[in-house]
Amino acid sequence: MTLRTRFTEEFGVEHPIVQGGMMWVGRAELAAAVSEAGGLGIITALTQPTPDDLLAEIEKARSLTDKPFGVNVTILPSINPPPYQDYVKAIIESGVKIVETAGSNPEPFLPYYKEAGIKVLHKCTSVRHALKAQKIGVDGVSIDGFECAGHPGEDDVPGLILIPAATQVLDIPVIASGGIADARGLVAALALGADGVNMGTRFMCTQESAIHQTVKEQIVAHSERDTQLIFRTMHNTARVANNEISRKVVEIEKSGGKFEDVRDLVAGARGRRVFEEGDLDAGIWSAGQVQGLINDIPTCAELVSRMVTEAESIIKSRLADMLA
Ligand SMILES: Cc1cc2nc3c(=O)[nH]c(=O)nc-3n(C[C@H](O)[C@H](O)[C@H](O)COP(=O)(O)O)c2cc1C
Repeated sequence: MTLRTRFTEEFGVEHPIVQGGMMWVGRAELAAAVSEAGGLGIITALTQPTPDDLLAEIEKARSLTDKPFGVNVTILPSINPPPYQDYVKAIIESGVKIVETAGSNPEPFLPYYKEAGIKVLHKCTSVRHALKAQKIGVDGVSIDGFECAGHPGEDDVPGLILIPAATQVLDIPVIASGGIADARGLVAALALGADGVNMGTRFMCTQESAIHQTVKEQIVAHSERDTQLIFRTMHNTARVANNEISRKVVEIEKSGGKFEDVRDLVAGARGRRVFEEGDLDAGIWSAGQVQGLINDIPTCAELVSRMVTEAESIIKSRLADMLA
């Protein structure tokens, strides 16, 4: 069975399942495996140290799949901003036709993407930002509810409210993101009016995700209560896995600490060590509440095909049987 939605039609993807951009995780093997399975895999641009490395990573993904995949460009406030313009130039040069934008307003780069025939899926965390993105001409939006891994924004609205609030006012395809790991989440998202789902934590915990096995096993062991919200006091909230470091950061913030006081603890290089060396307390690492629904480490093909098959059974049996 295939689930046809406006997203699958307009973005040329078989199943309405997207693997969201993930710093240190969204590499060629994972993106290619998701796309090969019929979803939309996404390479994370800034995981590559230079735009040339990104071009090589895109080529690597092309050697692994003929199906479409995308590239994520996350633009966040930064003391030493990366050369975003050069990364965007590399993406355009590479011929990739789908870009996931996130972190800030994609408007400055939209004309370049449009001219290159690239479809833009903008990820945001509120209805007002989604409406703005639609107004400036993006092709679709992914909307992250409060339960998501990474940056949920400051409004604290969970997906069960945020997604229908968005789909009732938007005309472009909407991808529900945050807290989804299986067919139940997929069918629920479609029922809320979404045209597909975006998953981060679930795809991080697959065979093809190039992170240490210990981290994957920790995700399986973790429950839905195993996240911490850091940077709340700095209005830059991030949902990360519960560990020694994230608890310490929250404690420092609660006692009035400023960014300077946690800077070393939250350094990207430390988080990277978690993924590469499997030292779970080396730094902070993003993971969502959906950890509580993740019980295995499948291949992307197994995961996508299981989601689609079980979605069919939920729709045709469980839900259809309820019709008196
Ligand atoms: C390890 C990790 C790193 C992430 N890095 C990024 C990133 O660099 N850019 C981005 O737009 N989203 C990032 N995200 C968010 C995901 O793309 C996705 O929106 C989110 O994980 C959805 O919530 P879920 O984990 O409950 O599925 C990251 C998520 C994880 C788990």
